Amino acid sequence: MTNGYKVLAPSDLGNDLTPGQFALDVLNGLGETPKRLPSRWFYDAEGSRLFQQICELPEYYLTRCEHEILARHAPDIVARAARQGLDIVDLGAGDGRKTSLVLDAAIKQVKDPRFVPIDISESAMRGLVADTGRAFPGLVIQGLVGEYADALHYFSKDKSRPSLVMFLGSNIGNFEYPAARSFLRQVWGALNPGDLLLIGFDRKKDIAQLIAAYNDNAGVTAKFDLNLLARINRELGGRFDLEKFEFFATWNPILGAIESYLVSREKQSVPVAGLNQVFHFEAWEPIHMEHSFKYGDHDIAQLADATGYEIVAEYTDKKGWFKDSLWRVRR
Ligand code: AVI
Repeated sequence: MTNGYKVLAPSDLGNDLTPGQFALDVLNGLGETPKRLPSRWFYDAEGSRLFQQICELPEYYLTRCEHEILARHAPDIVARAARQGLDIVDLGAGDGRKTSLVLDAAIKQVKDPRFVPIDISESAMRGLVADTGRAFPGLVIQGLVGEYADALHYFSKDKSRPSLVMFLGSNIGNFEYPAARSFLRQVWGALNPGDLLLIGFDRKKDIAQLIAAYNDNAGVTAKFDLNLLARINRELGGRFDLEKFEFFATWNPILGAIESYLVSREKQSVPVAGLNQVFHFEAWEPIHMEHSFKYGDHDIAQLADATGYEIVAEYTDKKGWFKDSLWRVRR
């Protein structure tokens, strides 16, 4: 079998990350009160580059903590999965550095493993398949390019092999609770009893530590958020002046989430030609950009139970800041 990937075309499966959907999300979000923009649109080429920089920041501990966990525990995680014909499915694989730790363990322990990365970006997938193929000669790689829901649906058709699905990096933290539950149910629906799901959760912790992770001294996180306004300028003919917006991130203790905003420094009107609209901002009016939910042990246990899984094992870094929780599909 040759390595490669399949693009699940929007016309086949109703993929909603099309340019039309971006325009609609901007139109709806900036038309609401309070204004908001969905953070899933952060990740164009520039946004993905900035996110890689965030992962290297001294304040952004999440990536390092999860790397530490997988460097230590990947062999144990893989040992709990099927020893033969295992599909290792990576949802939102990113640059694949953490994934490699699991693949390395799988190659040593599993007969006939297959790697199934799923990513929305075809260019990211192309790089990932090439890099992983070089790093793990002999490993079968069959990527899927598309939205998670579409790719999982496609993956679940004629599914006969056991799976270990990975959803790392606290990506679950960017989902509101109802969306997190429905996403985990979708994954559950695509899997068979006994299949495993490994999820990375950023844990609730000292508030100053959390706030620092989203207010880095170098200002990369601010640039990351502002890039979405720049993206609206690039792709939808917007006239946002980035200097006129200020980044603000804080902890909401009731929600248990970091909330990020871009705040208009002055009263202004911003035309977006591609939407045939002018958006009006009052001085100090915010746009809500992102929630980054943090999870306590009880929150994780409740979420697993509510979405059809039992917890098999949990792994934390030495400081206890991050947790990778391994769940088994229960029927
Ligand atoms: C991708 N996601 C888990 C990151 C987070 O921590 O919420 C995105 C991010 N936003 C600001 N910094 C990093």
